[in-house]
Amino acid sequence: MKTILITGGAGFIGSHVVRLFVKKYSDYKIVNLDKLTYAGNLANLEDVEKEKNYEFVKGDIVDGEFINTLFTKYKFDGVIHLAAESHVDRSIVNPMDFIMTNIVGTVNLLNAAKNIWMENMDGKPCLPDRQAAGRKFYHISTDEVYGSLGKEGFFTEKTSYDPRSPYSASKASSDHIVRAYFHTYNLPVIISNCSNNYGANQFPEKLIPLCINNIKNNKPLPVYGKGENVRDWLWVEDHVNAIDLIYHSGKTGETYNIGGNNEWKNIDLVKQLCRIMDIKLGRAKGESEKLITFVKDRAGHDLRYAIDSGKLQKELGWSPSLQFEEGLEKTVDWYLKNEKWLNNITSGEYQKYYDNQYVKR
Ligand code: NAD
Ligand code: TYD
Repeated sequence: MKTILITGGAGFIGSHVVRLFVKKYSDYKIVNLDKLTYAGNLANLEDVEKEKNYEFVKGDIVDGEFINTLFTKYKFDGVIHLAAESHVDRSIVNPMDFIMTNIVGTVNLLNAAKNIWMENMDGKPCLPDRQAAGRKFYHISTDEVYGSLGKEGFFTEKTSYDPRSPYSASKASSDHIVRAYFHTYNLPVIISNCSNNYGANQFPEKLIPLCINNIKNNKPLPVYGKGENVRDWLWVEDHVNAIDLIYHSGKTGETYNIGGNNEWKNIDLVKQLCRIMDIKLGRAKGESEKLITFVKDRAGHDLRYAIDSGKLQKELGWSPSLQFEEGLEKTVDWYLKNEKWLNNITSGEYQKYYDNQYVKR
């Protein structure tokens, strides 16, 4: 039985990755390592927490000693690394958390993997074959590392890095270090850079769940600047299917771009959400749009992201499964149905629950 470490598995994308791997691969033991920051929520994993091949470990990837002990204990065969500080606005207010978790935390994981994979227990030299024993360190990253596009063009895997926010700079830095461990130490790494995800369990600080929650509660919908910025939105489960494919069939040392080919101006997206919510809440047409409020722009706000995922499509046969309009409606339905999940977060109840449950250990 292989033991796979998934970091950040209590977060938005990580919880979908954990669920897919636990349910699809009964011959894997999945260890979910998460610090349970404000963004970590074990309620995202209620349906898998009792599965025999699943284990949760609370811990901080910034703590190098703890990470080394964990790797020595479990002797992981593979790592899928999602743990990160992920919100651009928070990175503008407090960059240091992003530097520590996204850069230092990633280096701690790389070192620990190098220690157990590249050397025998008796201190003999590295395994000669990068693919040895099917080991893999898969680093999950973002298209934001490529910077900002004008009206034309797409990011490819060959686009030069040009990160502009503390968040994207910290992710770019970690991508470079992951590649350095491939070239310098033969560590078997893979990286993917994905566009904006949406779907169930996304923390309601990000645009789509924030708007759903605010429309529901008749609160203003803060649109930064003129709402002209463009993002390429991908259904989270399509991202997770790509992660599964890349983990199992991707080539060591390679990078794969993942995107929805689905560009929306923020203002058009918010209006589309308002239309869906009017119908779902039985409001008069145009009612929710009245909540749209243009606010001061984000500092250094990237104008446009758009991903060319041709390499992943051609080489591994991946394609997104869901049309955006359908995905948005499904997402709205999920948030309306999971009122308790949302209210627990907005009231802060979910953090108290974790504290009680895990401090005792
Ligand atoms: P998220 O903020 O929802 O979840 C992050 C998880 O990491 C949380 O569970 C949190 O508790 C955990 N974590 C944070 N710091 C930690 C630490 N020091 N030690 C251990 N665990 C820690 O993030 P997300 O949106 O699910 O993103 C997951 C990954 O995917 C990130 O690496 C992000 O950069 C990348 N990504 C996200 C998107 C997106 O649209 N959300 C797009 C592309 C790539
Ligand atoms: P976000 O969901 O924070 O993702 P990212 O910054 O990683 O792309 O934001 C998506 C877009 O929506 C981005 O252009 C910023 C904008 N935005 C708003 O206009 N208002 C908001 O309240 C938020 C959170 C984001």
